[in-house]
Amino acid sequence: MMLPHTGRDYIAAFNPKEYLQECYDGPDHEHIFNIEFLVEALQLLPTNLRVLEVGSGPTLHSVAAIAPHANEIHLADYVPANLDEIFLWLDHRPEAFNWHPFIEVALTKAGLPATPEAVEQRAAEMRDKVTRLLVCDVLQPEPLEEKSEPYDLVLAPHCTDVAATTLQQWFQVMQNVTTLVKPRGWLFIAVTTGTTHNTVGTRVFNCVDLTDDDIYQGYVQAGYDPNTYMIAKIPADHKYEFTGICYAIAQKLPLQKVNLPTTLPDSKNSLNSINSTNSP
Ligand SMILES: C[S@@+](CC[C@H](N)C(=O)[O-])C[C@H]1O[C@@H](n2cnc3c(N)ncnc32)[C@H](O)[C@@H]1O
Repeated sequence: MMLPHTGRDYIAAFNPKEYLQECYDGPDHEHIFNIEFLVEALQLLPTNLRVLEVGSGPTLHSVAAIAPHANEIHLADYVPANLDEIFLWLDHRPEAFNWHPFIEVALTKAGLPATPEAVEQRAAEMRDKVTRLLVCDVLQPEPLEEKSEPYDLVLAPHCTDVAATTLQQWFQVMQNVTTLVKPRGWLFIAVTTGTTHNTVGTRVFNCVDLTDDDIYQGYVQAGYDPNTYMIAKIPADHKYEFTGICYAIAQKLPLQKVNLPTTLPDSKNSLNSINSTNSP
């Protein structure tokens, strides 16, 4: 087996087209659940959000879900080629990836008809609202290469666990990403479980395998309100080497220094209306 890729090596190893071909060959139940979780969670948030997605990769399915709730969306990744791939779509280039099937899911999950006109309209809204593509490194205390005001909502699907190689480092990544979240802003993450590496094509990438309690502790230590913490889990599609995916969101406290409980809150905070097959 090849050694897992980390650090600057990642830039040479991560191939956006290969990733899209292998992991986004049509919305699978993971993508659908990701969109559904976001659509449900957004019901609790105000509209006109200023949103950042870190570790977006070359993907736009989360943007498809959040666009109506945002007035501005910035996308950031460690690998510039991923941002180039997103630019192809924003710029209507023929070689760009087709996000329409994922937009259809976002419309359907929001209870809207997924007609061709509605899909075109949502695509136009996404193009209108994605205003910046930024380089970032969540291992750094200030992850964005260019300075920016903190955001109302930060999304980090399949990024925090991929960037970190140890639990301690993951806690630090959560702190780093939290510097990008406004007080009373929200952080959404998705992490894979049951593996310490993921393979894309012939390339192997590290990740940290987190328990439910690790994820909760990561949020609490980074300064989020436990009363707003929501988590949902699904088993992974058989095509992947990880066994499950965990989705979580919480609201950042207005002040960092507060006495917080360190045990998991009870299940009333799980997104009950989402039909997760193996939630705690
Ligand atoms: C598994 S992909 C996930 C892409 C996309 N968010 C998705 O859900 O499909 C992991 C992404 O994290 C990015 N990444 C890895 N290390 C990072 C770091 N230190 N800072 C920011 N992004 C990083 C990679 O470039 C890649 O785009």
